[in-house]
Amino acid sequence: MRSVIRIRKRCLRVSLHRTVSVSGGRLDRTIPYNISLGCAMEKPIVLRDTPLTRALHTKIRDQFSSRHTFVTCSDRLVQMLLEEACALLPTEEVTVDTPCGPFQGVRLPEEESLCAVSIMRGADCMLGVVRTMMPSIAVGKILIQRDEATALPQLMYSKLPPDISSRPAVLLLDPMLATGGSAVAALKVLIQQGVEPRKVIFVNVVCAKEGIEAVKAAYPEVRIVTSAVDPILNEKKYIVPGLGDFGDRYFGTDGS
Ligand code: URA
Repeated sequence: MRSVIRIRKRCLRVSLHRTVSVSGGRLDRTIPYNISLGCAMEKPIVLRDTPLTRALHTKIRDQFSSRHTFVTCSDRLVQMLLEEACALLPTEEVTVDTPCGPFQGVRLPEEESLCAVSIMRGADCMLGVVRTMMPSIAVGKILIQRDEATALPQLMYSKLPPDISSRPAVLLLDPMLATGGSAVAALKVLIQQGVEPRKVIFVNVVCAKEGIEAVKAAYPEVRIVTSAVDPILNEKKYIVPGLGDFGDRYFGTDGS
């Protein structure tokens, strides 16, 4: 019993240290002590629930919203999510001189040094906003599909910058995190390319608790930025209440 307590205390100490060293971290990003994993882990960073974010969610979740409404409201949320993700980027301290004196500031990594990776097809919906905000960011793509026979996620295609492992941060994009199967498979591809999990920021619009647990169990150091955590999945593994198929609603492939 005593050794269990010692191990748990050590986990907690390690992760508290990690939290204070995260640049841009805020005090409200507390980390829960996750007993099921036997180790402390960071909670996902969830956009603050404001009338604006709630109104945007009301629009994108309403099955009767037009495609125009769905696209504009989800783009707006993605923009807010990317701002939140950028707050987690590593910074370098710099001093500049204003006309009246020195100012202690910070510099973010150069835009070209960053990489966004789209888990196709859903995350292609997020690329428009990414490229508008950061036109020179590198963009990689990963396509994961479920093998019909085994029901396991299968890597079908990937194209990543060859130097991805030396980049200061990788923004992994997927608007819907349901079971976590595709996300974990995509993370495995990145890690096999030498990317350190602590450098990955997973940017997501709606996630299910099950998906968060799957990602955190496989890669506890990956940070998740989302705008909503929904409770359950249905029998088809769609998020409930969720919003249906994100890609279909965004690209109009749902027959609407
Ligand atoms: N992908 C979607 O588009 N929606 C879900 O609910 C789950 C996965």
